[in-house]
Amino acid sequence: MPIRAFVFDAYGTLYDVQSVLERVERACPGRGALITQIWRLKQLEYTWLRTCMEAFADFAVVTRDSLAYALDVAGVAPNEALLEELADAYLHLTPAPEARQALGALSGRTRAIFSNGSVAMLDALVRNSGLGGMLEHVVSVDAARAFKPSPKAYALVEPAIGVPPGEALFVSSNGFDVAGAKRFGFQVAWVRRGGGPGTAPSAAGPTEMFRAQRLHAERLHAEPDHVLGSLTELAGLPGRN
Ligand code: LAC
Repeated sequence: MPIRAFVFDAYGTLYDVQSVLERVERACPGRGALITQIWRLKQLEYTWLRTCMEAFADFAVVTRDSLAYALDVAGVAPNEALLEELADAYLHLTPAPEARQALGALSGRTRAIFSNGSVAMLDALVRNSGLGGMLEHVVSVDAARAFKPSPKAYALVEPAIGVPPGEALFVSSNGFDVAGAKRFGFQVAWVRRGGGPGTAPSAAGPTEMFRAQRLHAERLHAEPDHVLGSLTELAGLPGRN
């Protein structure tokens, strides 16, 4: 099947969600890893719960609420100024180390983001990271009022980019997103950064718990078409036209 467009997940795939750690550690010394990992786990959990409850909220709200939860877990009072300061880190995430080069290698092709992020969050993130000129489309789930992996969310991609799911390669490092996009009908590449078999954690600290939860193959019976070590491998995939 030809690949007429590359559709990227944002958080965790094109952008490093772990890059908030430095800022969190500075604000909450000694608790950065715990807060960072609980924050991301809860952020995703809240997207699924809100979609199940049909109680959609802007991803900025979900991001703040999950941060407040994580601060609570770490015994830090989630005051307004701290929430503001740390939530802002999501607008300044560091791109994955190979993101710029990988997007550049696909120049001339249709490149899009499709993300849980709200339009405002994604616009700020893309602008702040300087990747805007390398993306033809930035698509948010906002209009569907449902988060991934709801089919209502993935259905927004085709009208936005003008390419049907079967002719687009959906690229994500998030296992649940890989399964959701595959079930919806996309060709899918799973970017498996670390994790996988043979990487049993030596100790169950917050980072190991995160890796255990998020970096292994999901048992959701919707396998990716490609498993990549990094975004760099995209340009060499068979099936490009
Ligand atoms: C996103 C989440 C899944 O960017 O990371 O949509």
